[in-house]
Amino acid sequence: MKTGDEVGVLFLCVANSARSQIAEGLARQRFGDRLRILSAGSRPTRVNPLAIETMKAVGVDLTTHHSKLVEDLDPAGIELVITLCAEEVCPAFYAPVRRLHWPITDPATDATDEPMAQRLHRFEVARRSIASKLDIIEPALALPPRTVVAPATDDDRPELEALLVGCGLPIEGLAQASSVMARIDGVAVAAAALEEWEGFGILRSVAVAEAHRGTGLATALVTDRLCAARLAGLRSVSLLTTGARGYFERFGFVAGDRSSLPPALGASTQLELPACSTAVAMTLALAT
Ligand SMILES: CC(C)(COP(=O)(O)OP(=O)(O)OC[C@H]1O[C@@H](n2cnc3c(N)ncnc32)[C@H](O)[C@@H]1OP(=O)(O)O)[C@@H](O)C(=O)NCCC(=O)NCCS
Repeated sequence: MKTGDEVGVLFLCVANSARSQIAEGLARQRFGDRLRILSAGSRPTRVNPLAIETMKAVGVDLTTHHSKLVEDLDPAGIELVITLCAEEVCPAFYAPVRRLHWPITDPATDATDEPMAQRLHRFEVARRSIASKLDIIEPALALPPRTVVAPATDDDRPELEALLVGCGLPIEGLAQASSVMARIDGVAVAAAALEEWEGFGILRSVAVAEAHRGTGLATALVTDRLCAARLAGLRSVSLLTTGARGYFERFGFVAGDRSSLPPALGASTQLELPACSTAVAMTLALAT
């Protein structure tokens, strides 16, 4: 990973009040000794007291933080921008940096009649969700500049399918998976997907367009899907591969007998496809 005081990671949301402040606090706790961690918003307000409270529980003090306007930041050295908006439009950041999109529902609400414990719980959910994704920051900093990684939407489906077909991978059952895609200058260049079956996962559709292989795209997207599997509390993640066994061993996947796959995975189309009948089964156990 690129490191040094000069390498900046910027978290953005609208108000720079809850999500991006929590993200800044968590990322600084983990990477603060080697990266410059920043946050800002398009309509800054003030740091939400419940964000301060939820971060206190994990030993991070946000009381000295302030909500900042993105235009007021010095963009020099910012290599990675992470946008956290879900329904709202996140502020734009025009420098040619890498970008990750982590849509997280705003835990703040105007409902004043909601019990405090319930309000705080929503902040804790947001904090856990953000904390689960921090593993992606290091592989993301190694990606080519101008790469954008975001969850695939229905609108992305035609390009996603074309990418998989181009890489010789099946598209059956893709609707049952949650996919993430990488684009460079708007062109879809890589994907990975996770299927969940009764507490067990299947990693599938790990594909990188041939011209972009060897640039860390698959590493970043596989890491992203494994973070999602951990957040969902999956017990293990399995996959089938014909040519990439050595690749997945890098992540700790272990090849095993196909009959030893969790029975719940029998519901996946992946196990029925003739194209996968000669594939090796691999599994990564996740700590629960
Ligand atoms: C396997 C695949 C996803 C790797 O993508 P990638 O973007 O090149 O991977 P990364 O850039 O993250 O990693 C590159 C490293 O992995 C190694 N690697 C790539 N493919 C490999 C394979 N099939 N077996 C062993 N190692 C492999 C490279 O040699 C490189 O090593 P280095 O870091 O020591 O230089 C890509 O080759 C691909 O799309 N293949 C076709 C589809 C496929 O088989 N998918 C897997 C089944 S779902």
